[in-house]
Amino acid sequence: MTAATKQALDLLIFGGAGDLSWRKLLPALYMAHAHQRLPTATRIIALGRQAWSTAQYVEFVQGASTQHIDTSEMQPEVWQAFLQRLEYVPLDATQAADYARLAACLTPQAQRVFYLATAPTLFTQICQHLDSAGLVDAQARVVLEKPLGHDLPSAKVINEAVARHFGEQQIYRIDHYLGKETVQNLMVLRFGNAIFEPLWRAPSIRSVQITVAESVGVGSRAGFYDQTGALRDMVQNHLLQLLCIVAMEPPISLDPDDVRDEKLKVLRSLQRLDAAALRQHTVRGQYIAGAAQGESVCGYLDEANVPPDSQTETFVALRTHINNARWAGVPFFLRTGKRLQTRRSQIVIDFAQPPFSIFGTQPPNEHPNRLIITLQPEESIQLQMMAKIPGSGLNMKPVFLDLDLESAFAGRRADAYERLLVDVIKGRLTHFMRRDELEAAWKWVDPILQGWQALGEKPRPYTAGTWGPAASSALMAREGCSWFEES
Ligand code: BG6
Repeated sequence: MTAATKQALDLLIFGGAGDLSWRKLLPALYMAHAHQRLPTATRIIALGRQAWSTAQYVEFVQGASTQHIDTSEMQPEVWQAFLQRLEYVPLDATQAADYARLAACLTPQAQRVFYLATAPTLFTQICQHLDSAGLVDAQARVVLEKPLGHDLPSAKVINEAVARHFGEQQIYRIDHYLGKETVQNLMVLRFGNAIFEPLWRAPSIRSVQITVAESVGVGSRAGFYDQTGALRDMVQNHLLQLLCIVAMEPPISLDPDDVRDEKLKVLRSLQRLDAAALRQHTVRGQYIAGAAQGESVCGYLDEANVPPDSQTETFVALRTHINNARWAGVPFFLRTGKRLQTRRSQIVIDFAQPPFSIFGTQPPNEHPNRLIITLQPEESIQLQMMAKIPGSGLNMKPVFLDLDLESAFAGRRADAYERLLVDVIKGRLTHFMRRDELEAAWKWVDPILQGWQALGEKPRPYTAGTWGPAASSALMAREGCSWFEES
């Protein structure tokens, strides 16, 4: 253990009784505890408005969090030891007096991590009160959950307010996709293998597609989701981060700023989609009743708490370009949606066709070589190649070189939140977003949102359980491309 992990840790979770805490953070912290990844003297202090005692909070966590922990990892004595770490302090985030009370409960000299799992509207006040109560020292860290704003101006307001109390090196902006094993493996695929780099550019690459498909609907989050929509909820953060890792130049090191500098350049090179481009290169969709996993499911407008005339998109597909020397002319297609046919996140690199065919009259295959990187639910890398069909002259067909990462590396995979929480504790910023990165992403997204509004672009209906509106396939077809949808 390093000196830093030997130090006592007070991990404070604002919104300690909220959905994110019991569903993701506490299960992730339990796993970190069970695998000895937390400093010995770690206290997990949950804060919330409920007037609970620690015993009541522990009871709540017992009921709510256990179902989100893999049963094979659930060992009663380890779980009990984890619960011993939990404390609950009632706190109204807007009341200065509550922070003075909180200060009296904390461990002197401990490393403090403040995890803000609350509505972002509270971030400013929380940071201000923490500082006034003398709780922000040079080693304190703050973790900010998404959504960080709903457009560029609101994101700037939050960033500026937080920066009054914490230095940029103390701020951990979470995008949980950056904590996924498979997403981190993308860096290794690109920069740990020499064979791809010479081909990883125009004109060797014809197009790139990134799909994050979900089979779930909006669930119980309609109140939040209806104000947000798929572009803000998924594209502004997760899909753009994936795109950055696929498209960035090799960073000079894994130091946080070296990696984030390169990602920022990608975001700044993204082609803006002005009103004229929007109609042609973006598709908004909204699901209507259909089927998911063999069961009938309702349409978005019939979900609880969705206004009957909602125009919120639950699906987005779009095409953009990266205006730099590596990617000139290569279309990047992004797509995400709820209630799609299956849960699947995939990056498909479509390589160019051979410049000349020696195989006579055989029609060239449209996609002779594709690299298919599946991020979830399975973890695999497939390289599609043309091979001769035995006994058939020189007739050929595409086949896969297939790497199943789960069997290549058996054993436990830490969940994204566990990995990122351990990074925060260890002070590793590489997999968190820097302020300028976040703002550059909003700068690209804002004109799309504004353009859709100005054009009165209504979401197109798509049946739940399909791959989204037909217009999404048309968007691809116009460029001679097609979505990779094999399962
Ligand atoms: C969250 C979005 O950031 O990511 C959710 O707010 C979405 O709407 C979720 O369902 C998807 O995450 P994952 O890890 O299940 O792909």
